[in-house]
Amino acid sequence: MRMFGKAGKAAAVAAIAALALTACGRTDSGSSSSTAGGEAFPKDSMIGVALPQKTSENWVLAEKLFNDGLSSAGFKPDVQFANGGVSEQQNQISAMVTKGAKVIIVGAIDGAQLGTQLKQAKDSGATVIAYDRLLLNTENVDYYVAYDNFKVGELQGQALLDGMMAKKPSGPYNIELFAGSPDDANAKVFFDGAMSVLKPKIDDGTLKVVSGQTSFEQAVTQGWKAENAQRRADTLLTGSYGSASLDGVLSPNDTLARAVLTSVKAAGKPLPVVTGQDSEVESVKSIMAGEQYSTINKDTRKLVEHAITMVKDLQAGKELEINDKDSYNNGVKTVPAYLLEPQIVTVENVKTAYVDDPVLGPITK
Ligand code: BGC
Repeated sequence: MRMFGKAGKAAAVAAIAALALTACGRTDSGSSSSTAGGEAFPKDSMIGVALPQKTSENWVLAEKLFNDGLSSAGFKPDVQFANGGVSEQQNQISAMVTKGAKVIIVGAIDGAQLGTQLKQAKDSGATVIAYDRLLLNTENVDYYVAYDNFKVGELQGQALLDGMMAKKPSGPYNIELFAGSPDDANAKVFFDGAMSVLKPKIDDGTLKVVSGQTSFEQAVTQGWKAENAQRRADTLLTGSYGSASLDGVLSPNDTLARAVLTSVKAAGKPLPVVTGQDSEVESVKSIMAGEQYSTINKDTRKLVEHAITMVKDLQAGKELEINDKDSYNNGVKTVPAYLLEPQIVTVENVKTAYVDDPVLGPITK
């Protein structure tokens, strides 16, 4: 199963055609039907938000933003983390249905494991919104709101190339590839986006993956855990980089980027160009100190704000704003999406990228 961001559109359209899906091109107005006064449900309704594990700062921030934003709009938020894993998230979503949630927003741990609970949600009349991570292999998801994940990967791949060329004008460059957790639907999309840039350069010999580990399955980091990435980096350095230099590492996010940098430091090797994502405080500081090369700015405030706009529109019985109707095929249907644009951040633009950010603005001044 493959999902596509905008950049993979041609392939996406072909895949959709091959699957003979009918959802392509429609504007889905979800399950809500308007009641008197145009309102689909009362303004003080319960809204469920099921978040995954706290694997990066963006999720922690989302919790507060959802609680504050939904409350100030008059809704009753029920925001839950599932640090215990998939079965905890399944139970939380079922409980939200029982409590009468009118909209359930889901940032899935494993987007393919919630089929039963999402069916319960839809049967109860709730609208289901996939948040940041797509919900897979189910009819029972109405909308998707996220940063363009394929674009994130493309930006990471390009940053890796740019960073290495800035240090050493010509190749070949020795690199290693890291991917996110295989149960997270985003991980493969990030990797595919990056590989759309890197693969041609591997094929023409500009890039050399010295370990030979070029597939997604070989590159994954179970649970997005720093210790797993660090352990794999240790093994790669010992096994493949005796006297060879490591020029660059594709890392899908900041947590894993810092784990890789820790491993390289412990091995006493010069620091390679390492990519990231999420604009985590420690990584932004590392970029400013010239260690981590890049991150991705995916402002969580904007993403949560748009998710809450969707809830408000649903409540008011209004049609939702959708800017991508055909890229995100979840294996069963094409989910109408609202995608936000990610931004690459390096030392070059770190000051301007976060001027409006209450936490990062002061740090990068
Ligand atoms: C998010 C990333 C995050 C990762 C680990 C992904 O689904 O899109 O921003 O780094 O999860 O938490």
